[in-house]
Amino acid sequence: MELTYRPRRLRRTPALRSMVRENSLSASDFIYPLFIHEGDEIEQISAMPGANRWPLDALVGEVTRAWNLGVKCVVLFPKVDDALKTEGGEECFNENGLIPRAIRRLKKELPQMTIMTDVALDPYSIDGHDGIVSTEGIVLNDETIEHLCKQAIVQADAGADLIGPSDMMDGRVGAIRESLDDEGFEDVGIISYTAKYSSAYYGPFREALDSAPRSLSEKPIPKDKSTYQMDPANAREAITEAQLDEQEGSDILMVKPGLAYLDIIYRLRQESELPIAAYNVSGEYSMVKAAAAKGWIDEKSVVLETLLSFKRAGSDLILTYHACDAAAWLKNE
Ligand code: PBG
Repeated sequence: MELTYRPRRLRRTPALRSMVRENSLSASDFIYPLFIHEGDEIEQISAMPGANRWPLDALVGEVTRAWNLGVKCVVLFPKVDDALKTEGGEECFNENGLIPRAIRRLKKELPQMTIMTDVALDPYSIDGHDGIVSTEGIVLNDETIEHLCKQAIVQADAGADLIGPSDMMDGRVGAIRESLDDEGFEDVGIISYTAKYSSAYYGPFREALDSAPRSLSEKPIPKDKSTYQMDPANAREAITEAQLDEQEGSDILMVKPGLAYLDIIYRLRQESELPIAAYNVSGEYSMVKAAAAKGWIDEKSVVLETLLSFKRAGSDLILTYHACDAAAWLKNE
């Protein structure tokens, strides 16, 4: 055949392939999510093999392990005792709560590690919602934001580097930015969950924190989060959310979940010059782990291919429970 173009020419040897490779993964792309609890034991999470609920003592060791593998940022999620949960989730701004204590401890023992936090009420809410639920069963926007701002300040005061509002209330990024600035935390950044979808992929995470919406009283509790998280059918709306977060002062935009929403990552990459993060969420992790445990897929290859797809779609950062495994695989490549 007389072919002018033979794309296979550049695929012929490993050296040629590496020369024309468009994207790559590095441990510094990863943000490692960790669950913490008050107990003394390391508790396994059944739907997320390899992920645990860490007591603070063991947390320091796990975060040090991540740092030594080249991971530069962790994000902390608390499993809060039921006795501390209230309708308003006030425990979220207790300066002696689990999260502020964990941040202080990590900043003391490993000050070079970047600490990201989650801002939302769900781990602290008796109703399991990211905001305050009214007696009529409405998730209240503006009232919730007052609590979120207090939560962000307590986290910043404890030493957090990046505040991650995951609640999807309207106007929370601007309100949190203003509160942080008013309190002298102008250098603390915001990584906003910009396009966060009302997704079934969060199931294992809600098991890990025991934070799913639930009804314990007469109050009607919305069964899902679809009045504040985005409709999975919508893409253009993600651009509106991104524009708002950018105007309100977000430093990094996040898309969540990641894998079923690669098109959203790509669209935001075209729209914004800010760094973009993808959240490779709990359900995505569990599916890979389950198939790998059955011997149906090769875990290492599937994980690295998936993580690379987030980079190709346009994200700079990837929140992933595979962070340490992937960092170790990249090191040995
Ligand atoms: C809560 C929050 C959720 C996740 C991160 N922060 C769950 C939810 O919105 O219900 C999900 C993360 C994951 O599934 O890995 N605000």
